[in-house]
Amino acid sequence: MKQLPFDREKLEQIAAVYPTPFHIYDEEGIKKCVKELYGAFSWNKGFREYFAVKALPNPFILSLLSSLGCGCDCASLPELMLSDASGVNGERIMFSSNDTPLNEYECANALGAVINLDDISHIEMLDRLEHFPKTVCCRYNPGNAFSMTNDIMGHLADSKFGMTKPQLFDAMAILKTRGVKRFGIHSMLVSCAMESEYYPRLAKSLFELALEVKAKTGVTVSFLNLSGGLGIPYYPDQEPINIKAIGNAVKEEYEKTLVPAGMEVDIYTELGRYITGPYGYLVSRVIHKKQIYKNYIGLDACASDLMRPAMYGSYHHITVMGKENMPCDRLYDVTGSLCENNDKFAIDRLLPEVQTGDLVVIHDTGAHGHSMGYNYNGKLRSAELMYHKDGTVTMIRRAEKPSDYFATLDFSPYADKLLK
Ligand code: LLP
Repeated sequence: MKQLPFDREKLEQIAAVYPTPFHIYDEEGIKKCVKELYGAFSWNKGFREYFAVKALPNPFILSLLSSLGCGCDCASLPELMLSDASGVNGERIMFSSNDTPLNEYECANALGAVINLDDISHIEMLDRLEHFPKTVCCRYNPGNAFSMTNDIMGHLADSKFGMTKPQLFDAMAILKTRGVKRFGIHSMLVSCAMESEYYPRLAKSLFELALEVKAKTGVTVSFLNLSGGLGIPYYPDQEPINIKAIGNAVKEEYEKTLVPAGMEVDIYTELGRYITGPYGYLVSRVIHKKQIYKNYIGLDACASDLMRPAMYGSYHHITVMGKENMPCDRLYDVTGSLCENNDKFAIDRLLPEVQTGDLVVIHDTGAHGHSMGYNYNGKLRSAELMYHKDGTVTMIRRAEKPSDYFATLDFSPYADKLLK
């Protein structure tokens, strides 16, 4: 059974202050997860987690993670600004972008971020910066040479990300002539990997690549970025991955491949989902029941608050609060209010008998949840709350108001009427 940090009574108290729907994040859960990650890689002196800002771009979360030693992995100008505002800058930012406009490189460089180049042609963009960065990372795409893939990332030979191996060698050699002093290699091959061999296999291939880079170009690679991609158990019968065992298996590969060659590298990660995913919950209230050819439960949340089920058909577990121990003997589609038939949080889900007014919790929304929201149908995105260890709650983002939706019309003759 999926665990929750609060019961129905507590959640009703919270909902009395902050109307549903809202995402609520369990601060303690996130802290514990980060500590375990750092413990698992403590054998590597330079280990650092660069939290993937796209997963949960909230400054309260970023500064909490920063206080635990994490940096930020950014992919856009606003993500860079958010990291900087959260007190994360310099080499504690990894700029892992793609198809990047010049102004974003300018901002990243001004902040002193580590620039992770998605393509060899982007070296010319760096030439146009005020000063050429001293630390540069190159993103590697092994194409069909790496066989683990999944639906979210697709097949690597079809993936738009990263450079081929010959391009990576060329890029390293060119960067050396530009005066780069610290080099890294990044690769992200899978999303939501539940297989414990993913990181060790990726690490092994990057360790071997670092040795090849040295042999072919004379460049010494100082860090390897295993990026994100570790999975979480969305289904209640799934076991979480064992981070300690994964850290140890990466260490074994390190000792087999790099230590004999006398090479030392810092290991970095750019995890998003693994860090915050399981510690976020979308809380919503049942506002309708509908019976036609199927039984529908209508929520006050919709795909604007969580689009993963609509976009990927992803499973998110649902708990009907206060009915945890009742038999799940009713079959429902759980829907939002968008004029889109894919606005369903669950299809053919067995739940206890649900009544209008029930509070439901949709699990594992702490990463790629609120951040993927959108405003189709003029739907407004929900608030975000932080749940603290002592049971208190802080609002870390208010819910959108109609004036937020209309904010980009502030130049127009309609502004006076819309932006009150
Ligand atoms: N680093 C880079 C460069 C990435 O593109 C991503 C995710 C991450 C790190 C973090 O990945 P994570 O550890 O969170 O899997 N919207 C999808 C996930 C797309 C992943 C995109 N990149 C979802 O809802 O599952």
